[in-house]
Amino acid sequence: MMKVAPSILSADFGNLQRDIEEICQSGCDLVHVDVMDGHFVPNLTIGPVVVSAVAACATKPLDIHLMVENNTFFVELFAPLKPEYISFHIEEEKHPHRLIQKIRSLGIKPAIVLNPHTPPEAIEYLLQDLDMVLLMSVNPGFGGQIFIDSVIKKASCLNEMRNRLNPDCLIEVDGGVNDQNIQLLKDAGVDVVVAGSYVFKHENRKTAIESLQI
Ligand code: DX5
Ligand code: ZN
Repeated sequence: MMKVAPSILSADFGNLQRDIEEICQSGCDLVHVDVMDGHFVPNLTIGPVVVSAVAACATKPLDIHLMVENNTFFVELFAPLKPEYISFHIEEEKHPHRLIQKIRSLGIKPAIVLNPHTPPEAIEYLLQDLDMVLLMSVNPGFGGQIFIDSVIKKASCLNEMRNRLNPDCLIEVDGGVNDQNIQLLKDAGVDVVVAGSYVFKHENRKTAIESLQI
């Protein structure tokens, strides 16, 4: 079944504990945390103080998505919170293989993120060392954007590649996911979807989460 990771970027930050408890009780699989530094992307979100408060009230594992320039610094900052996954952008890392090893040595599952323009071949020689690949289906930086359709073809290519090289590696898609595109993502071989505005703006968040768990 498709796993669902609601992005707390679209939660009500005045009631963050309430919103996190609600999605965890509503059967989400992971809690997706978007970390932005105002440099790699033109937006700024949350640091370890707030994320430790998120970790304290979440009853599901954290999926930390770094959108930052200095990946190693941020990996070291968030590692003590023991997330399930830390993902970093291939476009912003000179030594991705070294960073994968570092994340794994900290007891965390390493994942790499590809922006909409980055081909799956960019990670062909890293795939066997990864637990997950995250494909962006919007340009990173903001919630509530329109889904970029070309990710479907990219997910299919990546699915073929991971079945050949590392069948245990999950494929995650992030951005503009909703009940209209979930079947296409499932058919392309996607295992995990991130959904921010679709879940948090829905009148019934449990229904929203369940509609993606196909
Ligand atoms: C965008 C973030 C996403 C975003 C998804 O940079 O990585 O996780 O919060 O939000 P929606 O589902 O609203 O596109
Ligand atoms: Zn994200």
